Amino acid sequence: MIIKTLKQKHLLFLKGYPKKDIELILDTAFKFLEVLDRPIKKVPSLKGVTIVNLFFENSTRTRISFELAQKRLSADTVNFSASSSSLKKGESFKDTVQNIMSMKIMMRCMRTPHLISKALTEFIDAVVVNAGDGAHEHPTQAILDMMSLKEKFGYLRGLKIGIVGDILHSRVARSNIYGLLNMGAEVKVCGPPNLIPINIKDLGVDVTFDLDELIEWADALNILRIQKERMGQPLIPSTREYRLSFGITFERLKNHKKEIIIMHPGPMNRGVEIDSKVADSDQAIILDQVLNGVASRMSILYCLCGGYSDEME
Ligand code: CP
Repeated sequence: MIIKTLKQKHLLFLKGYPKKDIELILDTAFKFLEVLDRPIKKVPSLKGVTIVNLFFENSTRTRISFELAQKRLSADTVNFSASSSSLKKGESFKDTVQNIMSMKIMMRCMRTPHLISKALTEFIDAVVVNAGDGAHEHPTQAILDMMSLKEKFGYLRGLKIGIVGDILHSRVARSNIYGLLNMGAEVKVCGPPNLIPINIKDLGVDVTFDLDELIEWADALNILRIQKERMGQPLIPSTREYRLSFGITFERLKNHKKEIIIMHPGPMNRGVEIDSKVADSDQAIILDQVLNGVASRMSILYCLCGGYSDEME
């Protein structure tokens, strides 16, 4: 029996995450995708492991797919939602986490409105998976995005990926940039100048403010929504003007006469950053991304809990 394990105990950020660990997670995710195609979509891999999903920020896809991934792996899973918790009675974040983790929980999948600091991993002995921390990183989203690209193209090295929209506030953009560059893809970002971080080129990506130029260059586009909830004041003049310059419309794509792949992490604002006719077209792999999110998170939890074994095959 061959057992391969991750070098990292946690999955906090893709910045600096070992390439071999990403490769192992992706390879294992494709095996779990096959499990999801079986009549009985459940394996005993994490029987006896207790996992808590701590969500301090809203979520649809990430929370459900983490929970589903845990159930598919036969783990015991519990959910925490900030809006119905004793945080509302004044309990601190640290006390909340410490109290929950004292119930002998082995892993926690956390979404927070602020950066997850490494210090958080030190006051409790449990594996931590970052399910999105503010405008910083969303590593599991980037893993499922890379899995979806690999599924579509068969490879990542040399792929040209355009990321369009509110890059400044996007944890998805940051984790995609770190992950994709590490895997040998090229990344170019596009959006209004005030929604592109000033130091973005330091990350190793190119910038264009011309969406048509990006479409000509890219093999796939990852479209991001405008995160109004993270802006202190409005940073775009109007959604109509935004759509004209940076919206992925059917007419704009038709002018380019090329089969570009369209991705979106969700939630979508149809008619703003993407038109329905594009989101629901054959070019879009948006719902494949969602399914791959379950397989990716099964893989991440499994690999962090002990590793890959060829007995899965
Ligand atoms: N992509 C993503 O993180 O979606 P949710 O906010 O619905 O989890």
